Amino acid sequence: MSAALNQVAGQHLIDIRKVSKSYFSGTVETQVLFGIDLAVPRGDFLAVMGQSGSGKSTLMNIFGCLDQATGGTYLLNGIDTLTLSRAELATIRNRTIGFVFQSFNLIKRMSVAENVALPLIYAGVARKQAHAKALVELERVGLKELAQRTPNQLSGGQQQRVAIARALVGDPPLILADEPTGNLDTQTSIDIMRSFQQLNEERGITILLVTHEPDIAAYSKRLMRLKDGRVLYDGPAAEGLRQLAQSHEQLASA
Ligand SMILES: Nc1ncnc2c1ncn2[C@@H]1O[C@H](COP(=O)(O)OP(=O)(O)OP(=O)(O)O)[C@@H](O)[C@H]1O
Ligand SMILES: [Mg+2]
Repeated sequence: MSAALNQVAGQHLIDIRKVSKSYFSGTVETQVLFGIDLAVPRGDFLAVMGQSGSGKSTLMNIFGCLDQATGGTYLLNGIDTLTLSRAELATIRNRTIGFVFQSFNLIKRMSVAENVALPLIYAGVARKQAHAKALVELERVGLKELAQRTPNQLSGGQQQRVAIARALVGDPPLILADEPTGNLDTQTSIDIMRSFQQLNEERGITILLVTHEPDIAAYSKRLMRLKDGRVLYDGPAAEGLRQLAQSHEQLASA
């Protein structure tokens, strides 16, 4: 393991400066992010909002080291991600980040317990040990008794809880979730947001999530609003949501 992967204590978990992102199609450049600055301390709970196409998923993919910025700098847990090889990026990603997706992304032919254990199996942990840790995480999300079922025998909300258990099984300090409640009804969405809140408050896990719903963003501490690839607002969630509601009122009365 190279020295570049050693964690630096006391730094922000995520620190991006002047991050830009362009997609290229032949010689045609389409810029979708313009000079984004964001520092996320450990223990933060940040919701990202913005219209469709504003760059939310693009930014989350950069945070998750699934894609790289075309300009600027990105320190993840104090590590300069732009200097890392693909293999090193995969290592820091596995150690640092748990992902939760809108469509759960569980493997249908595996049991719930096997799904949750999978990140540990990939990381080289012995099967028995991985399975035991998976059951601990399933118990924490209240689904231990469903461990032997397959994902299609669960409700959407239960599947998303399994996905949360899978995201947490390697004890990452950071959860990235792109529209985690996008496929869930209102009550189930509230339950999932309460789970995130509990993880944040009780285990100090840093959470970044994308949502279109002000009611969902209201569970976060901090809100970032994007517009056309630029930061429109970054601050306390309550104040940001108040401004958002006000701008909707102005539109409605115009
Ligand atoms: N691989 C790609 N190649 C070219 N353009 C892309 C690519 N991925 C995204 N884009 C463009 O980048 C812009 C931002 O896309 P992004 O997916 O980040 O939006 P978003 O805010 O997540 O939208 P939504 O709310 O619909 O999920 C869009 O205009 C999109 O068409
Ligand atoms: Mg998106």
